[in-house]
Amino acid sequence: MNAPTMKGLTIQAPSYVKNAKLIAWVADMAALCKPEAIHWCDGSKEEYDRLCQQLVDTGTFRKLDPAKRPNSFLALSDPSDVARVEDRTYICSEQKENAGPTNNWMAPAEMRATLQPLFDGCMKGRTMYVVPFSMGPLGSPIAHIGIELSDSPYVAVNMRIMTRMGKAVYDVLGADGDFVPCVHTVGAPLEPGQKDVSWPCNKTKYIVHYPETREIWSYGSGYGGNALLGKKCFALRIASNMGRDEGWLAEHMLILGVTNPEGKKYHVAAAFPSACGKTNFSMLVPPAGFEGWKVTTIGDDIAWIKPQADGTLRAINPEAGYFGVAPGTNMLTNPNCMRSLDQGVIFTNVALTDDGDVWWEGMEQDAPGKALPAHLIDWQGKDWTPQIAKETGAKAAHPNARFTVAATNNPALDEAWDDPKGVTIDAFIFGGRRSNTVPLVTEARNWVEGVYMAATMGSETTAAAAGQQGVVRRDPFAMLPFMGYNMSDYFQHWLDLGMKLEASGAKLPKIYTTNWFRKGADGKFVWPGYGENMRVLKWMIDRVEGNKTEGVEHITGISPRYEDLNWTGLNFSAEQFATVTSIDKAAWQAELKLHAELFKQLEHHLPKELPETKAAIEQRLAA
Ligand code: GTP
Ligand code: SPV
Ligand code: MN
Repeated sequence: MNAPTMKGLTIQAPSYVKNAKLIAWVADMAALCKPEAIHWCDGSKEEYDRLCQQLVDTGTFRKLDPAKRPNSFLALSDPSDVARVEDRTYICSEQKENAGPTNNWMAPAEMRATLQPLFDGCMKGRTMYVVPFSMGPLGSPIAHIGIELSDSPYVAVNMRIMTRMGKAVYDVLGADGDFVPCVHTVGAPLEPGQKDVSWPCNKTKYIVHYPETREIWSYGSGYGGNALLGKKCFALRIASNMGRDEGWLAEHMLILGVTNPEGKKYHVAAAFPSACGKTNFSMLVPPAGFEGWKVTTIGDDIAWIKPQADGTLRAINPEAGYFGVAPGTNMLTNPNCMRSLDQGVIFTNVALTDDGDVWWEGMEQDAPGKALPAHLIDWQGKDWTPQIAKETGAKAAHPNARFTVAATNNPALDEAWDDPKGVTIDAFIFGGRRSNTVPLVTEARNWVEGVYMAATMGSETTAAAAGQQGVVRRDPFAMLPFMGYNMSDYFQHWLDLGMKLEASGAKLPKIYTTNWFRKGADGKFVWPGYGENMRVLKWMIDRVEGNKTEGVEHITGISPRYEDLNWTGLNFSAEQFATVTSIDKAAWQAELKLHAELFKQLEHHLPKELPETKAAIEQRLAA
């Protein structure tokens, strides 16, 4: 019997838990956090249903109308806890320079001393859930196991959707297997008799990573990437460290399969910053004019990519669900996503309709001309009417409102999404959100130029992170908030990988940059986006397939001319095309100054290939 006891609390691990290190760690953490009880999650449907009912009973969840939205729930967060908190996120490596200039850093010993008193008694009056999960298919050689201890049942049920969570993880872990320990608390202990709130959290927040010891400690938030620790904390920040040490990549990328009318299938991995279209692109429905083309989803947010002996790159999606942005999603922009949301969904911070369903801004567009709902309960639990919205500008759903849903709900799910071997990557895309300067699509002439474009990518900030929205910042590889080590070392890691693949004689994946977000003089997006992005995807795939289509060279790479894209079924003039593809010399001179600022910031260990590539671009610009 695995039952160390401490001050009246029995650890009592289930008999199928054989890992002594795990049991000892749970005992240590219980001694520190002092929960009232410990619940070892088995990942069963019964357990999920029971926890959801408990969340309904305590007021965190509201059950949606079972006819309209079966097995679905709505949670409204505390208004102060709505997104990732980048300024509270730390990489606590032994050496500051290993965290690099783009991360918050504190020495591990100092951070441990800071967290110790915060975690002491932090789970009083609450249950500690022991959540075993696998990132990647259970037992796959590329998968890794984590155990999250959390005092939030909301986190436990979300983790069951987002990861392979449950009992079977312990079979893989065995008696002496390794796991990444992840501790999470909302930081809201309950005194005896104290009534709980519907979304407990603390105004003090710490999202902490110890890369050398591969540990995660999260305090004070219950929301998304702050709390579902398998996602950004493990699968990106900790995994990027594993990848550097072991020669693979952990990336903020969707993975899709695209099959052409000849039946040949390709795989594309695309890194767009948070709330810049990954979920949408991964579920793309080809428009009219693209008969015979098919797009299928392997993943929508994270890719683990491993080089093979034959010089190919194989990618898996370490997740098992989607934690996606609700606003803007509708039957026109993303029908596969809307269908994924038919049942079995946890919604967070969307609005509630009077008939027990959900609503968000940009949802009504599925029926043009349809009137706004007359009344809603907004994401803060307040009455919302079109009149109130008009007068106060109040949004019914928070701009970072999200849904949590199993990948298996997605009608476009790729048959290989769960294949432990992964899929072979043929092309990478990097795409920021830029209202000007950056053209619709550019192909890098070689790996180094592609790494340059990815490293210098800029993007306007979104509601996915707390802070100011819409300001352009450098977001290298869409990894700025998710890098677990020095950014310049990461650039070098990408360059080294390219050299290694090239040396094996393999054909390297092509690298592209995209920008769906150029705006016209009227301030509106010029490019129609969404399904119409297929026109750009086809151009890329045709070029992967032996330059079947043309392009024109310019200062940063190769872009299509108007006549190089298939325009069947879309009214988009050559003038409009020029608006989204033109290269403005003055704008690019200003842009290169921003690249220079980035390189100055990242000076330490910056690979020399990057300033060399910049100099070549400057020369072409001056010519
Ligand atoms: P994270 O989950 O935060 O990593 O984001 P993501 O990259 O998966 O973003 P997602 O696909 O959820 O898109 C976020 C927002 O971008 C939504 O409001 C979409 O409507 C909008 N969006 C997605 N694709 C396009 C596009 O092609 N054009 C335009 N204009 N907007 C888009
Ligand atoms: C992102 O912000 O890139 C997300 C959402 O995918 S979260 O899981 O909250 O990080
Ligand atoms: Mn993301």
